[in-house]
Amino acid sequence: MQEPLISTADFGPLPDGQTAQLFTLRNGRGLEARITNYGGTLTHLLAPDKDGQPGDVVLGFDAVGGYLSETYRQAGPYFGALIGRYGNRIKQGRFRLDGHDYTLATNNGPNHLHGGLRGFDKVLWQAEVLVEPTPALRLTYISPDGEEGYPGTLTVSVVYALTPDNALRISYAATTDRATVLNLTNHAYFNLSAGAQPDVLGHELQLHAERYTVVDDTLIPTGELRLVQGTPFDFTRSHAIGARIGQVPGGYDHNWVLAGGEHFRLVATAHEPGSGRTLEVRTDQPGVQFYSGNFLDGSLTGKNGRPYGRHAGFCLETQHFPDSPNQPAFPSTVLRPGELFSSATEYRFGVQR
Ligand code: GLA
Repeated sequence: MQEPLISTADFGPLPDGQTAQLFTLRNGRGLEARITNYGGTLTHLLAPDKDGQPGDVVLGFDAVGGYLSETYRQAGPYFGALIGRYGNRIKQGRFRLDGHDYTLATNNGPNHLHGGLRGFDKVLWQAEVLVEPTPALRLTYISPDGEEGYPGTLTVSVVYALTPDNALRISYAATTDRATVLNLTNHAYFNLSAGAQPDVLGHELQLHAERYTVVDDTLIPTGELRLVQGTPFDFTRSHAIGARIGQVPGGYDHNWVLAGGEHFRLVATAHEPGSGRTLEVRTDQPGVQFYSGNFLDGSLTGKNGRPYGRHAGFCLETQHFPDSPNQPAFPSTVLRPGELFSSATEYRFGVQR
C-alpha cells in the first residue's frame, strides 16, 4: 500500500502541558519532510542518494524533548527552526524606526540574535495540513505587539511544501499593524552524506555571490560589502567547505550578498561526493548566511544517537543582511501596515554521479 502523503503524530509534551505535533509530508518521489509545530522546526528530511537510497540530510532530534533540553537551549544551534522576528544579529539589541527607539534582548554577547529569548523557534505554531496542489503544511503565529521588544502585532504564516521535482519550498508571509522590522528564515543544518561523514568539510559548495558583509568581532556588519575574489570567501566556483576554512578564524559564519537582486533565482549549490547528493538553493532574498556549524562541539546527540561535533552540518539561511535596521544602505527590513511581506526559498535535492 502506498504511504499517505501527509500523516500526523504526537512529538511529545511541552512544559505548559500542550503536546507538540509532528507532521510527515511525502511527495511520492522519494522526498520526505517531518516538521513539528514547536518552533516550526524541520526535524527530518529524507532524500535519495545516487543509488536511490533515502537518507536523512538534516540535523535534529527524534522527540520534542531534544529541543527543550537545557543543554540544547544553552548551546543554541536552532536546528531546523523557523527564525524570527529577526534572523541573525541586531547590534546591541537596539534600533530606531520612525523616530522611536526600540530595545531588544541581548542574548548573544552584546547583541540580539534570532528574535531574542523566546523567538519564533520556541513558540507553538498553529498548524494546518494542505494537500493540493502538493503536500504542504501551513504554520501560523501571531506575535503580539511588543513581543521581545518589537513593535506591532505581526501575523506570520509559513508554508512548507514538497514539490514534484524534489524540493522543499518554504514560503513566508507576514503583515503588521504598526511599522516594524522583520527577517524570517529557516535554520536547517544539512549534511548531505546523511551521517556517513561526521562533518561537512568534504562537501563542495558554490555561492552565487561576489561580495560578503564584513563583520566586527561580535559578528556585526561594519557596513562594508567586500569582494570575495582572492579570499577564502570566494565560492563563485565550487570549493570544498574545508579547503580554506582554516584561513577564516572561527570558521564560516557570514552573510553573502547574493547576485541577482531580489528575484527568485538559484543562489547556491552543494554536492557531497560520497552519496552523490546535491542541493540547490533558490530564493528571492538578497543574502544568505553560510554557517559551517562552528559552535557544535559534540555535546548534543541527535537522531540515531549521533553526536553532533564541530562542522557536523552547514546552514544556508536565506535572509536580509544582519543588522539591517541599523544599516540604512542595506536592503530594507521594514514592514508597514497595509504591506504584505512575502518571500520564498526552495531547497532542491538531486544526485550527481
Ligand atoms: C547563525 C549565526 C551563528 C550562530 C548560529 C546558531 O548562523 O550567525 O553565529 O549563532 O546561527 O548557532
